[in-house]
Formats: sequence, C-alpha cells, structure tokens
Amino acid sequence: MKVLEGKVALVTGSGRGVGLGIAQELAEAGADVVINDLHADRAEEGAAEIRSLGVKAAPAAFDITDLAGVRRGVDQAEAQLGKIDILVNNAGLPDSGFEMGSFRESDPSVWHLWIDLNIYGSLNMIWTVLPGMVERKWGRIIQISSGVGSRGILGGNSIYGGSKAGIEGALRHIAIEEARNGVSVNSIAPGLMQNAAYRQDPNDTRPGTLGAVPMGRLCDPRWVGACAVWLCSEKGGFVTGQTIHVNGGTIHGR
Ligand SMILES: NC(=O)c1ccc[n+]([C@@H]2O[C@H](COP(=O)([O-])OP(=O)(O)OC[C@H]3O[C@@H](n4cnc5c(N)ncnc54)[C@H](O)[C@@H]3O)[C@@H](O)[C@H]2O)c1
Repeated sequence: MKVLEGKVALVTGSGRGVGLGIAQELAEAGADVVINDLHADRAEEGAAEIRSLGVKAAPAAFDITDLAGVRRGVDQAEAQLGKIDILVNNAGLPDSGFEMGSFRESDPSVWHLWIDLNIYGSLNMIWTVLPGMVERKWGRIIQISSGVGSRGILGGNSIYGGSKAGIEGALRHIAIEEARNGVSVNSIAPGLMQNAAYRQDPNDTRPGTLGAVPMGRLCDPRWVGACAVWLCSEKGGFVTGQTIHVNGGTIHGR
C-alpha cells in the first residue's frame, strides 16, 4: 500500500511549476489530487497530468484570495474527490510578475499583491479546510515558503520575504493550537528552483544565482514534493510547527 493511498490532497497554484511537481509526488504516493489554479486551462492540464499517474484528479479554478470563491471551489472539489485531508498552500507568486526592486524604490500600490496572496490567500485556504480536518482527527497543512522568508538578500524581495515570514509565523501558532487534533502544520522553504530563470553561471556567487547554492545545482520541484510526501506520511506526522529548507545548503545572504 502506498503511503498516501486513500487521502485527498489539494495543492494551490499547481497548474505548473513547483505546485505541479508537488502534486505529482503526492499522486505517486497514492493520493487523489485537486489541482487548483487561477487559470482554468492550467488546472485542467495539471489534472490530466495527475490522472496519467493512475489516481483521481479534479481541476479547481479559483482565486485563493477570494474567500467566498475558495469556499465554493473547495465544496465542488470535495463533491468530486472527497474531503480534503492534505492542503498544500503553494500559490505565492502574483500573476503580475516577480521583480520589485529595493524597498526604498518600491511602489506602495503593489505591496498588497504579495500580502494578499501569501497571507490572506493561505489563511483563506486553511480556515476553509481546517475544521473538517479537526473533525476527522487527521490533517496535514503544508505552506510553500521561501528562503527569503528567513533571511535578507539583495534582490528586491522585501515584501515577498515579509509575506512568507508572516504566514510562517501564523502557521507556527496554528500548529500548536491543533497539535492534539491530529493535524500537523509545517512550511517548506525551497531554494532556487529549476523552473525559474536564474543565472546559471556557477562562478557568479551573487544571491539568486546558481553559484550561491553550495551544492551547485537548482532544486527540482519533485524534491519539494518528496519532502511534502514525507511530512504527510504517518511517520512524518510527529513534525509540526517547523520550516524545512530544501535548498542545497544555501544559508548566506549579502
Ligand atoms: N520558483 C522559485 O524559484 C521559487 C523559490 C522559492 C519558493 N518558491 C515558491 O514556490 C511557489 C510556486 O512557485 P512557482 O515558481 O511554481 O510559481 P509559478 O508562477 O510558476 O506557478 C504558480 C501558479 O500559481 C497560480 N496562481 C497565482 N495566483 C493565484 C491565485 N490567486 N489563486 C490560485 N492560483 C494562483 C498561477 O496561475 C501559477 O500557475 C510559490 O509559493 C513561490 O513563492 C518558488
């Protein structure tokens, strides 16, 4: 029997990138998977990919920053696949783009994009599925964070990093509140990912480049997914309130 057989997982923003890699690993571990994305076509394609792995999958196109939309989307998904046992809050990069520049030069009108998505979006999801997990006395919540939530680097990440640090902080408390209810709550902070366009020169040691990763390679979304599978397994269930860095040893910032 596979470790997650009989479980239903929902991964936000999993139509592509890191989220799809996580969904693939959960599916290979036996879970049925709800593929949420802002874009319906990405959700459909992701769900088709997951079905090809031999489990059930449902596309669920909704915006995680809209609480009423989250409720509707979760209800529809649960009607198809069953109650959500595993929530992976992965959506965290706004559609409008990543580069922000230094905080001093930033445009205050865009700050909310990061806060809305990483804090409100993640809280909306947790608040919607947590009561059911507690009632059934089993649940796993995993937040996909980032190394910039734990350290400062040059690269225009102040609001992004602040939003990740903020949600990590809230999760540490939720983890303790639910520790006796069968629900674990953790964050995974990936390092530089293969699916993003980083400078690949191993001699360039600036933050945000391949050379800044001690192991000298970029992270495969599947490795983030493998960490999620372990946290979701029964044997990984004693870990709660933690942030696990999956980043090839990257610890420094300049
Ligand atoms: N890419 C990296 O190098 C990297 C590094 C560290 C952490 N992360 C984290 O990994 C996660 C995924 O990153 P990625 O590179 O795969 O991003 P991505 O942009 O490739 O994919 C994210 C998906 O989320 C969807 N999405 C965006 N806003 C949404 C919303 N409001 N509701 C529902 N879906 C929404 C997008 O449509 C997109 O398909 C993020 O939380 C990010 O912070 C990424």
